[in-house]
Amino acid sequence: MSGGLGRFVLNLSDRSATRKLFTQTSAGRKLSLRFVAGETLDQAVTAAVHLNASGALVSLDHLGEHVAEATAAEAARDDYLACLDRIGSEGIDANISVKLTQLGLGFDDRLAAESLAALADRARSVGTTVSIDMEESAYTEATLEAFEVVQDRFGNVGVAVQAYLYRARADVDRLVRRGGQIRLCKGAYAEPPEIAFAKKNDVNRNFDALARVLMRSSEVTPAIATHDEERIDHARRLGGMRQRPWEFQMLYGVRPTLQRQLISDGYPLRVYLPYGSAWYPYLTRRLAERPANLGFFLRAASRR
Ligand code: FDA
Repeated sequence: MSGGLGRFVLNLSDRSATRKLFTQTSAGRKLSLRFVAGETLDQAVTAAVHLNASGALVSLDHLGEHVAEATAAEAARDDYLACLDRIGSEGIDANISVKLTQLGLGFDDRLAAESLAALADRARSVGTTVSIDMEESAYTEATLEAFEVVQDRFGNVGVAVQAYLYRARADVDRLVRRGGQIRLCKGAYAEPPEIAFAKKNDVNRNFDALARVLMRSSEVTPAIATHDEERIDHARRLGGMRQRPWEFQMLYGVRPTLQRQLISDGYPLRVYLPYGSAWYPYLTRRLAERPANLGFFLRAASRR
């Protein structure tokens, strides 16, 4: 995330009055449905089946983060296990994306690690993979360490790298030795200039440089996660020289026409598909990336 307006939106959304405005109004819930499949696993499965039929791969994200109790972390793990079982029983071409703070990272790291291992194990038994989202910088190192342990054990785990972080280049150099799918994204949180590029151009330059390193690696499967056409064109050029698998990834509801175009051009595209009732923090990041999305909310609210 970069840009003053986006940062303003993220700060504003921390306030409980703003949260209520979105979560307790029909306009807020309608806006969430642009980016979220629904609140239930059944709704997510229906959306995933449609996406598969349109030629897209899927990554199912059961929304939630920063849980503060073991029971909530265990419930999140169990929800994901149920999700993996549905992927297997319905034959959906999907993996799962998880946030480690939803599994307990930050207050019980051992529980988070055990839950991640349980998910990787179940994913392996249904023939799929687990992708770890990257959260705020306070969790970067712990997330990478958890990834390394579980990837070494199960071999079906991936992790995201945020191009806005200065440390991203060193992280990519470290990760390419591990294998797995490495998702390159720009980064969606408000990070200070001591650790992250503040200017869009710098983030973009770093994104392209990291894409080059990943695309040249024979150990990892690069996932280029962006809706930015210049970054996509750059990745297409790199992909033309690559013999091994790689894919594009985009968020559900963001630039659907571009998504269809890439599929019809023959590129593998995975759609990140969130579902669940804890959609508010996810929605605020989508608003911060493109504050114009607020217009949809304001128009719907004014019609009430
Ligand atoms: P940029 O923000 O420059 O957007 C390019 C264009 O895309 C915009 O001009 C606009 O047209 C469109 N666009 C972008 N965002 C939009 C939105 N919300 N609504 C409407 N249009 C929009 N981040 C993170 O920190 N950790 C993670 O694990 C992940 N995981 C992840 C997975 C996948 C599959 C994707 C695509 C993205 C992430 N992200 C993420 C989010 C990522 O870091 C970043 O915040 C967003 O992708 C927006 O950046 P772009 O690369 O799309 O470029």
